[in-house]
Amino acid sequence: MNTSTDKVILENLMARLKQETSSEHDRMEVLMQQAGVFESKENYAQFTLSQYYFQKDVEHLYLDPKVQQLIPDLDVRGRSEAALQDLKDLNVEPQQQLIATEMIKFPESLGWIYVSEGSTLGAAFLFKEAQAKFGFNVEFAARNLAAYPEGRAVVWKRFKQTLDEANFTEQEKNEVIKGALNGFNRFGTLLEDLKNLK
Ligand code: HEM
Repeated sequence: MNTSTDKVILENLMARLKQETSSEHDRMEVLMQQAGVFESKENYAQFTLSQYYFQKDVEHLYLDPKVQQLIPDLDVRGRSEAALQDLKDLNVEPQQQLIATEMIKFPESLGWIYVSEGSTLGAAFLFKEAQAKFGFNVEFAARNLAAYPEGRAVVWKRFKQTLDEANFTEQEKNEVIKGALNGFNRFGTLLEDLKNLK
């Protein structure tokens, strides 16, 4: 066993994020399965509502100058507007104004943004399923699952690099990971209550 290599891997923020949130990621997949997101257009619409609320939570964090300074391409990120358009297609109007991230500070905020950015990777599969099951696409009801114009992988790689090159202290890294766990938890709460979301 090479302990010095192990140490380097463990200290890398993106590697830690992936490793320390992987059980939460698995939980999201199970919750989505349980909610039957693709079993009906109604369920899909409720899922889109959860995406919309989560994106609003995450985009609220973009307002922080510290986030803007670290992530200069925020303008290409975020999908709340796309989700809102999708909801219009699906005849759903969001009823809630609550933002779950009002009290979230930098750098914990980066963990939430990590959850949102990472979810664009899995969205490739969800997009295909929405297309196959319901015929939805980038112009109707599945905009929020579509790839960024530059492509999912490119934008994700840039995000990963930004976080890894930020040179956070261990304490700051722990804060980011706490944020990611809280972000997953928020999305999990939305998924658990998917049927009753308004
Ligand atoms: C059925 C639902 C989902 C599927 C099939 C799925 C699938 C995937 C896949 C294939 C990856 C890429 C793994 C890699 O390239 O290493 C990924 C990454 C990721 N997904 Fe999901 N995902 C789902 C739901 C979600 C949800 C609901 C969230 C959060 C709200 C989420 C957050 C993430 C994050 C943060 C990553 C990045 C992991 C890393 O650090 O590399 N995913 N997902």
